[in-house]
Amino acid sequence: MTLSHFWKPGTEKPRLLEDEDGGVIFLSSSYSSSSSGYGYVSIEKQRQRLPVYKYRTAILYLVESHATTIVVGETGSGKTTQIPQFLKEAGWADGGRVIACTQPRRLAVQAVASRVAEEMGVKLGEEVGYTIRFEDISNPDLTRIKFLTDGVLLREMMDDPLLTKYSVIMVDEAHERSISTDIVLGLLKKIQKRRPELRLIISSATIEAKSMSNFFLSSKRRQALEGEELRPGLEPAILSVEGRGFNVQIHYVEDPVRDYVQAAVSTVLLINDKEPPGDILVFLTGQDDIDAAIKLLTEEARSNGKNSSGLIILPLYSGLTRAEQDLIFSPTPKGKRKVVISTNIAETSLTLEGIVYVVDSGFSKQRFYNPISDIENLVVAPISKASARQRAGRAGRLRPGKCYRLYTEEYFLNEMSIQGIPEIQRSNLVSCVIQLKALGIDNILGFDWPASPSPESMIRALEVLYSLGVLDDDAKLTSPVGFQVAEIPLEPMIAKMILSSNELGCSDEIITIAAVLSIQSIWFSARGAQKELDEAKLRFAAAEGDHVTFLNIYKGFLQSGKSSKWCHKNFINYHAMKKVMEIRELLRRIALRLGIVLKSCETDMQLVRKAVTAGFFANACRLEAYSHGGMYKTIRGSQEVYIHPSSVLFRVNPKCVIYHSLVSTDRQYMRNVMSIDPSWLTEVAPHFYQQQRHNPTIH
Ligand code: CDP
Ligand code: MG
Repeated sequence: MTLSHFWKPGTEKPRLLEDEDGGVIFLSSSYSSSSSGYGYVSIEKQRQRLPVYKYRTAILYLVESHATTIVVGETGSGKTTQIPQFLKEAGWADGGRVIACTQPRRLAVQAVASRVAEEMGVKLGEEVGYTIRFEDISNPDLTRIKFLTDGVLLREMMDDPLLTKYSVIMVDEAHERSISTDIVLGLLKKIQKRRPELRLIISSATIEAKSMSNFFLSSKRRQALEGEELRPGLEPAILSVEGRGFNVQIHYVEDPVRDYVQAAVSTVLLINDKEPPGDILVFLTGQDDIDAAIKLLTEEARSNGKNSSGLIILPLYSGLTRAEQDLIFSPTPKGKRKVVISTNIAETSLTLEGIVYVVDSGFSKQRFYNPISDIENLVVAPISKASARQRAGRAGRLRPGKCYRLYTEEYFLNEMSIQGIPEIQRSNLVSCVIQLKALGIDNILGFDWPASPSPESMIRALEVLYSLGVLDDDAKLTSPVGFQVAEIPLEPMIAKMILSSNELGCSDEIITIAAVLSIQSIWFSARGAQKELDEAKLRFAAAEGDHVTFLNIYKGFLQSGKSSKWCHKNFINYHAMKKVMEIRELLRRIALRLGIVLKSCETDMQLVRKAVTAGFFANACRLEAYSHGGMYKTIRGSQEVYIHPSSVLFRVNPKCVIYHSLVSTDRQYMRNVMSIDPSWLTEVAPHFYQQQRHNPTIH
């Protein structure tokens, strides 16, 4: 098989940015790319070559004269790394003020902060710092440029509602429309009215500028209606930085592919076989299919011998260690070809320099919430055309590139949606509501959203929070529970579980469980050793389920003297365990602040299970049938769900269980599952299970 057999050239124009119209300042430039690549030129030269460099004066002028500036520029044009430095050089961080730059993704925060520190020649954590949940590498006295997730900025508003220490806040990657970005935008619009000196920069990789601008404009219209005098510069400025990437030739598959992981692997091998040097970037959806692809690729590379020698295969997803991240960004050695297999983090958040070929599966993991069934899960779902164009664009940074789409052209043209749906319209809003309530925003339905969430989702969230005892009859935060839950930087259900453990006398165990639930997985990914992994799991498996199993593992880890060897032997991810220890310590400190002193229940696991139920009662399911390894239904919404094969309760099938989260592939799978006594449900959440109180099926 050759590439031309497999692939059909596309007719889509390769240009990635379309012209803006009406009232837009439109400047253009082109990349002055060096054929020698990066790594051979000084960092200062590299900075000057980035497209935004030419707009330095324009950006600084607009920020000076406008409350809000919207900057649109192709990925890699230097928005994230350069604009904060321009602002600092122009004095926006003088007098102890701080320039903030938010990102939706934690890994991006770490990567850009370390890049900027390097460019400025300073130690990370001093003049340039970052904060993500559970990791604060900044110094209140020294840090002048601070990168943070938008979620962390929201948390900061709880202590400092007007964000007074910041002179400029750059909300980056706004096109992603993450739930926290949308909440932050709504709140910043409010803050701006109270702090006219505050400057906002909204930056985005795609032409979403118009709707963003309208969002900030509507306040002007409203003020005009109210007869208030218009302040100059209230209208947002839009600056479009056109970095002309090189042409990217698009190829489509002739026929739909069945297995995109296998198709991606075959495509990588074909590119390696037929195409001149240049790195390959593959877009898959998450750690599981990325690991599967790496395993396949490594196997096929081995069996093909010569065909695949010289490939450096690297995963890119959140939760990578520092060293793994560095490999992604380090230049490819001569004669080698890097293959980076990534989630959609490489779509716009991070730029990899040497990419010439992109393989696009056409999917990403997305959150979906159905307020009717009250089910939220992560689904592997088709991406939008906007995303597909972004992905293709990653191939044209160094020189003309090629993008291989693992879907047909017809599908792209006729079936792909134009834009994705903002996350706020497809999420469970429990965390969002509690954060707004904690910030004193009572009329949540009337809040000025960039995109309004559905009233059904809102009502569901209010109901769950009421049942958790977080909101009272007037939908106000209860004291102390509501305020305490809001203060714990974890999902409200976990926060409630911690508070309940205090009453039940098992906070020591529950804090460990909360820490483990905060990371993706503590197991080492099996990569061809599924049997050994399953055997290792059996060594720790508790009949009560995954939560109690985590306690066994934690105990074993401590007894081994926190040994990496022990982890290795037991298929446990040592880095993940170290992270669990760190998070546990942070949670212990937060608990202490809330007056919770850790107390162990020793061997009484019933107390632990009750505390978990007090937080997660809404995720209770009942066994319905033994078909397909055990079919469950959610008690409240009667949705069909199954125990995930990674759970220690897989095929054990207790009658009634509670889960932590759902993932959806061919079916809806529950991850992290624990068996419970159904009578606990009415005990901990009488309101929530009221209608079913006399229903014999849950008794
Ligand atoms: O934000 P935007 O996509 O516009 O670009 P950027 O992230 O500021 O990237 C500008 C340049 O910095 C690109 O050439 C990146 O490859 C480089 N960069 C890097 O080498 N290492 C990082 N950790 C981050 C950026
Ligand atoms: Mg960026």
